Amino acid sequence: MDKLRIAFIGTGSMGSAVLEGLIASGHPRELISATVRTESKAQALRARGISALATETSPDANQLMAGDADLIVLGVKPYQIADVLGELVGEIGKNSVVISMAAGIQLATMASQLPENPNLIRTMPNTPALVGKGVTGLASGPNASAEAVTAATELFEAVGVVVKIEESQIDALSAISGSGPAWVFYIIEQWEKIALEKGFSQADAKLMVRQTLAGSIALLESSGEEPVELRRRVTSPGGTTERIIATLDQADLRSIFSASLEAAVSRAREIANS
Ligand SMILES: NC(=O)c1ccc[n+]([C@@H]2O[C@H](COP(=O)([O-])OP(=O)(O)OC[C@H]3O[C@@H](n4cnc5c(N)ncnc54)[C@H](OP(=O)(O)O)[C@@H]3O)[C@@H](O)[C@H]2O)c1
Repeated sequence: MDKLRIAFIGTGSMGSAVLEGLIASGHPRELISATVRTESKAQALRARGISALATETSPDANQLMAGDADLIVLGVKPYQIADVLGELVGEIGKNSVVISMAAGIQLATMASQLPENPNLIRTMPNTPALVGKGVTGLASGPNASAEAVTAATELFEAVGVVVKIEESQIDALSAISGSGPAWVFYIIEQWEKIALEKGFSQADAKLMVRQTLAGSIALLESSGEEPVELRRRVTSPGGTTERIIATLDQADLRSIFSASLEAAVSRAREIANS
């Protein structure tokens, strides 16, 4: 992996999260290249020792950077994937590993646009990759080699953990871990609002909620216990916490979570078929 040439085609929020993780993991900068649309962003990358080109000043930037890469990471928006694959067809090595991060773009679609490239991989990372704690779902195409899958896995392990899945599971994974940070941040928002409603200052509300969350995760990780057991330990029979859980149960929180997931999965199907 540390000898592979890696090209990021589209290096925005997600692409740069993976690129930064790769640099932090010690991958040689001279083996990393990147494209963006805007020249100023390419300049910023070049200032950091990354070979970078912008499509607004170099229209053939994607072909130039991907041409000799072993791994090609597609970090453009889903609606741009078809155009970008159209630019790359015939320009990249037959054994290059082409990794898409785009939501809703199927492996079969990639294969139809790159018929000579067997090493096709579809991934769904999440934004904690920015701090090296991402979860990336990874599904490989039917003809991808074991080496290609290993290289793609190692790339995303530079920014967190990798869950290998079948492509049929990717919409559910997208809802659970891809969108997962939004579930968590939304819960934090509601939790802080009710603290404010009880008269706490914004600073105290933030501290109480965020430190409780961080502390609970740390406890979960270090104790080796399951959440149900750790919850039992703060829930005395007949006590106040028991009332909180009963109220959440009455509201059928699990059904709300399940309906949220199903709504995301059905939207993913709509996007894939549009
Ligand atoms: N953000 C997430 O949480 C997340 C999670 C999972 C998967 N994804 C997937 O990751 C992909 C990128 O999302 P993002 O949030 O990182 O988007 P983003 O921040 O908008 O990044 C897109 C990047 O593509 C560049 N670009 C635009 N047109 C290009 C072209 N023709 N050739 C080369 N580069 C081009 C943009 O350059 P400029 O900045 O110069 O315009 C930018 O660097 C999407 O397919 C998305 O589905 C995102």
